Amino acid sequence: MPSISTKGLAMPESPIRKLVPYAENAKKRGINVIHLNIGQPDIKTPQVALDAVKNNTLDVIAYSRTEGSETYREKIAAYYKKQNINVTAQEIIVTTGGSEALAFVMGSIADADDEIIIPEPFYANYNGFATAAGVHVVPVVSKIENNFALPPIEEFEKLITSKTKAILICNPGNPTGYLYSKEEIKKLAAIVKKHNLFLIADEVYREFTYDGKEHYSILQEEGLEENAIIVDSVSKRYSMCGARIGCLVSKNKELVKTALKFAQARLSPPTYAQIASEAALDTPNSYFTDVIEEYVERRNILITELEQVNGVRVAKPQGAFYCIAELPIKDADKFAQWLLEDFNIDNETVMVAPAAGFYATKGLGKNQIRIAYVLDKESLKRAVHIIKEALAVYQD
Ligand SMILES: Cc1ncc(COP(=O)(O)O)c(C=O)c1O
Repeated sequence: MPSISTKGLAMPESPIRKLVPYAENAKKRGINVIHLNIGQPDIKTPQVALDAVKNNTLDVIAYSRTEGSETYREKIAAYYKKQNINVTAQEIIVTTGGSEALAFVMGSIADADDEIIIPEPFYANYNGFATAAGVHVVPVVSKIENNFALPPIEEFEKLITSKTKAILICNPGNPTGYLYSKEEIKKLAAIVKKHNLFLIADEVYREFTYDGKEHYSILQEEGLEENAIIVDSVSKRYSMCGARIGCLVSKNKELVKTALKFAQARLSPPTYAQIASEAALDTPNSYFTDVIEEYVERRNILITELEQVNGVRVAKPQGAFYCIAELPIKDADKFAQWLLEDFNIDNETVMVAPAAGFYATKGLGKNQIRIAYVLDKESLKRAVHIIKEALAVYQD
């Protein structure tokens, strides 16, 4: 048989999706599965975005410009201005989801065997994009006992080598829900400038900040123009995961010029989805007020309920819609599979994402799970009840 590449063999499975066959089997057995594993919000997509696709009068679904349509990029730039991020349409490349922006960034800044430092736990697919680009992820550990705050700067500096190309953060964080403070961003800015590195911020959850806390973007930080790269997406902001639209933003001209070559190879981002995404930018602010209120209530219920379960430790998220919970078990992979195969209450069980796949350091996160609170409050309450009863009988 022709052989598979070493890189292909090294590609990690997604911890968010790898248990899907067990969930499908459970459903075939008539079990209702509460999906806490994936960040697919149940929030309705803004009507303006849906209507823009329904009402458009295209005769030909043509390619768009490689960097995304002019009108859309102008509107994105205006959106950023409202967020106090001063960028022009020329500093934006529209991509097929934030995912493609991540792939373009890795391809543009790193050669095989180069290194990118990422605070862990991190969005699991960073591992996949790094593997595809031949890049080594160098983790710096953030800890549940510190609520996943930025590790001390010395920890970053210890890890910087001649191969280091960038520091990558997710702000607010998936899977931790951690929101970096202005001071933390300033500290990171100082290190990347000192060591001549890129600072990549995945800001796809920018709007989702709670308890009166405000998001501070790396592109609000003066003097970081050559270093800063933002990865963004409409997926979560407007509950448009299936549109597959995101963007890459940087004031570094060489970086944008290089990323554009990767973009040219895939011709253009999807046309209909850009129409929807452009219209989504007219979503009234009240949409976010309502959505954020809903997420805060969900978070509060989830955290309060989890804290009452014996042996469970959880960090309180300040943004995004995920949390990491530490369970009194040895192996969350086995527990998550067992929940789907062997446990239910009144024909209902829960699917969670084992957290080890969100770490690059082997052995970390083995007793942790990631929970996405993208479901209604009643489902979240039932889900925690199921986890609690399951832990009471589960044998490692
Ligand atoms: C932190 C983070 N970055 C990027 C993505 C990719 O999103 P998309 O490709 O749907 O824009 C996700 C999706 O869950 C995410 O959580």
